[in-house]
Amino acid sequence: MPFGREPSSIPQPGPLSSNPATATLARMKQDIREVLIGRGAIADRIRALADQIAADLAGLGDNAEITIIPILTGSFIFVADLIRELPLKMQIRLISVSSYPGMSTTSKGARLSEQLNQLPTSLTGRHVLIVDDILDSGQTLRLVTDVIQRLEPASVRTCVLLRKQRPEIKHFPVNYVCFDIPDEFVVGFGLDYNDYYRNLPDIVALRSEVLETETVS
Ligand code: IMP
Ligand code: MG
Repeated sequence: MPFGREPSSIPQPGPLSSNPATATLARMKQDIREVLIGRGAIADRIRALADQIAADLAGLGDNAEITIIPILTGSFIFVADLIRELPLKMQIRLISVSSYPGMSTTSKGARLSEQLNQLPTSLTGRHVLIVDDILDSGQTLRLVTDVIQRLEPASVRTCVLLRKQRPEIKHFPVNYVCFDIPDEFVVGFGLDYNDYYRNLPDIVALRSEVLETETVS
């Protein structure tokens, strides 16, 4: 074996009670009030949406240059699943936007992060697909779309995993939506509360005691 450990040296999981990782997952699960969308339904819907996106992008022609722009951190799991269902040649450029600092559950205004910004100086001739986790107030997608438009791409499309049913964004332009959800704070499948719970495989609502009163640092 050229790298990695011999299989026999990989620790095997012990009984549940003695496995610290499992105990942590159990504790995290206690914070869940309700599973809104299970992992199976998410996977099925991503495959269906990817078929639609692939058909649209393939329609641009064999020589179309495609750039996917995931907005981190929340979209990382969604985009990983989505692009593996898109059988197209593409480049990926990561950017990061923060709007829900710390333990806040309402937007505090979207800001493009300078630390993680892989945008080129020009996107001329490229067809761009911006991918975000959730459309809430619309500030993030508006900010990113404006920034991208200034780089003069051939076209811009937007895609979100979730869209909240809020009157303010009823007419907000977005090309692809995986799921419409009620207007409540959700975590899992990449979405966080205070940077936790991103690794929950389902999209869930937390118990109200867990969502502390807002203390933004
Ligand atoms: P917007 O700019 O208000 O549309 O919010 C978009 C960003 O806020 C998303 O990319 C998320 O990071 C975050 N956000 C909005 N709603 C939620 C939620 O219910 N749970 C976790 N993060 C959220
Ligand atoms: Mg977030």
